Amino acid sequence: MEKIVSLCKRRGFIFQSSDIYGGLSNTWDYGPFGVELKNNLKAAWWKANVYERDDIYGMDAAILMHPKVWEASGHVQNFFDLKSDCKSCKKRFKAEDLKGKNKCPECGGELTEARPFNLMFRTYQGPVEDASSAIYMRPETAQGMFVNFLNIIDTKHPRLPFGLAQIGKAFRNEITPGNFTFRTREFEQMEIEYFVNPKDAARIQEEWVESRFNWYLGLGLKKENLRKRPHGKDELAHYALACTDIEYNFPFGWSELEGIANRTDFDLKQHSEASGKELKFFDDAAKEKFYPYIIEPSGGVDRSVLAILVDAFHEEKVREDMRVVLKLNKDLAPVKAAVLPLLRNRPEIVEQAKKISADLKKSFNTVYDDTGAIGKLYRRQDEVGTLFCITVDVQSLEDKQVTVRERDSMLQERISIDRLKEYLSNKLS
Ligand code: GAP
Repeated sequence: MEKIVSLCKRRGFIFQSSDIYGGLSNTWDYGPFGVELKNNLKAAWWKANVYERDDIYGMDAAILMHPKVWEASGHVQNFFDLKSDCKSCKKRFKAEDLKGKNKCPECGGELTEARPFNLMFRTYQGPVEDASSAIYMRPETAQGMFVNFLNIIDTKHPRLPFGLAQIGKAFRNEITPGNFTFRTREFEQMEIEYFVNPKDAARIQEEWVESRFNWYLGLGLKKENLRKRPHGKDELAHYALACTDIEYNFPFGWSELEGIANRTDFDLKQHSEASGKELKFFDDAAKEKFYPYIIEPSGGVDRSVLAILVDAFHEEKVREDMRVVLKLNKDLAPVKAAVLPLLRNRPEIVEQAKKISADLKKSFNTVYDDTGAIGKLYRRQDEVGTLFCITVDVQSLEDKQVTVRERDSMLQERISIDRLKEYLSNKLS
């Protein structure tokens, strides 16, 4: 993990938040390459789950919602961890991490009784800070989709099964955040709420587990680093009848990337009762009206980015040197091509390289770099996972060809400048 954290900082993937003030602990900012990687991941998810399907619609609901949502959803009553505080050093611990011990793991001090601690962030809406203006930052994006159920029925007229998909921020006042971006208080989720006939729920949940598992494989994560883990009855969330996690073998152990839960009709029923609006589905063919069950594949953007970085990180010996390379899949790689002039003191070469870069930028994320010797530039691009390095040299001015080096094999080919875009398009399609 230290190598990943250090690479993320050194190369501009992920920085400590508010670094110049000593940092806000467990809060992270995505830098120039991090935001590209994250956007590419979200685009891949959106493509697979919205664009390539006829039965799932995209949404982007507000983070702030009516406070009654969180009462009806059960989050006010049930969304808590048990915590104990150390009476000496004042540190706070999750009861389950203490494993029955009643002394502070940090200083040996006496601990308070375990008490429930609600994980939702509470704030106030408007200028008056009183109970009537209290509002929560959403702890899951899901509820924004449930409360729009009728709007979707009225505007899209879907048949069952159908789904809603959303990517957005969620907030939880975690007692023990940590492991870099793995558990944080502000994070991003990619969630699908798939409405099904209750009789099909168990089968469709299994299908989603397979399809989501295969999606992670398709991103290039190694099969041996992924596994499925069904939840025991005692670890299910208050709304779930069943849940299977997809876990990744992080350097700190197997941990959850995504959960695929059967939420039954819990949410739609709760919101119907609390709002007085009946959130049932009318099945035209069967002429029956019922509450659909919800199958929910819910993944974390930040956790997936972390798993992708860990999986792609390679150190290999090249002659006498150690090469660090991020072997990111072509869709995820932040930069597709880097254009590098071999001699930066030759204006004709620099000009040609800049021209090629400007042209490629219209089609692919391309960078131009002339800030070092070629060996150093290759190293830098390898560390951020750039797929192709294009070198312009003296001969390029004569024969109108450039050298294209492929990241993983390091094989080099001479390609004519007019064919460059077509060559890269073929490689990237
Ligand atoms: N709507 C269901 C739900 O929120 P969850 O298992 O609590 O279920 C879903 O969260 C996903 O969100 C997790 O699999 C994880 O990837 C991500 N996630 C949850 N809490 C997180 C945290 N504190 N930091 C980063 N990611 C988190």
